[in-house]
Amino acid sequence: MPEIPHFVQEQARVLSNQPVAKGIYLMRLEAPAVSRTCQPAQFVQILTDPGLSPFLRRPFSALRVDRDAGWFEIIYDVIGPGTERMAVAKIGDEFDINGPLGQPFVPPNTGRLLLVGGGVGLVPLAFLAWAHPERRNDMVYLMGAANGHRMPDMAALLPQNLVLHLATDDGSVGHKGFVTQLIAEHVVPNTTVITCGPHAMMAQVAKIAGERKLPCFASLENHMACGFGACMGCVVAYKEATTPDLQYRRVCLEGPMVNAHAIVW
Ligand code: FES
Repeated sequence: MPEIPHFVQEQARVLSNQPVAKGIYLMRLEAPAVSRTCQPAQFVQILTDPGLSPFLRRPFSALRVDRDAGWFEIIYDVIGPGTERMAVAKIGDEFDINGPLGQPFVPPNTGRLLLVGGGVGLVPLAFLAWAHPERRNDMVYLMGAANGHRMPDMAALLPQNLVLHLATDDGSVGHKGFVTQLIAEHVVPNTTVITCGPHAMMAQVAKIAGERKLPCFASLENHMACGFGACMGCVVAYKEATTPDLQYRRVCLEGPMVNAHAIVW
């Protein structure tokens, strides 16, 4: 295992765990060591079901941390046995976690930051907003979901003074259509686009940003087995400027936030 700064394994205690939309839960975990150092775009690996496999951990990005109180929050979609177990966890239950993993992401310090989230991809973008109050006046947050039932109360998850626009596929909340349709009206000179969500959505965001020659970063949600570079299960293909060949790199080590124009979608 490579040397990973601040990496720890600890028992995290559930402080709260409740649904925030249909099939989507918010969990607060007391984990002082991880909470002390976790930065935006980093993730933790949670052993969600040791009965099923003592090795299989799942990656979750942090939404918000309180370094003094020693907790961090995650949001998760209930999509399988591991997250089903998480959904029934009670206050005081414990999960074996390790992290923080991946590279911290620091946004550019000038210009507009256009954050484009979809589904539980809202999480790393929200952490950016919480972690950079000095940049919040330049942030515009665009959030998409399939419908109103799948759209959490974003105002409760984001800092109060953040400009927020919503979109749902069926128009039940906000703009009717894809969140990517909102990008054009919020681009100003010197805009950087930062996105996280379903793969197809991020690919479209990267395409739009490319057409407008805007820098674009994407927080990839590849399947991650080990989380620290050992299994090669998370590789993504990069287009190298110097060679026509593709280069494969590990999202868990070099990402999860990557230059969206450098990878093959
Ligand atoms: Fe194992 Fe990235 S998750 S190498």
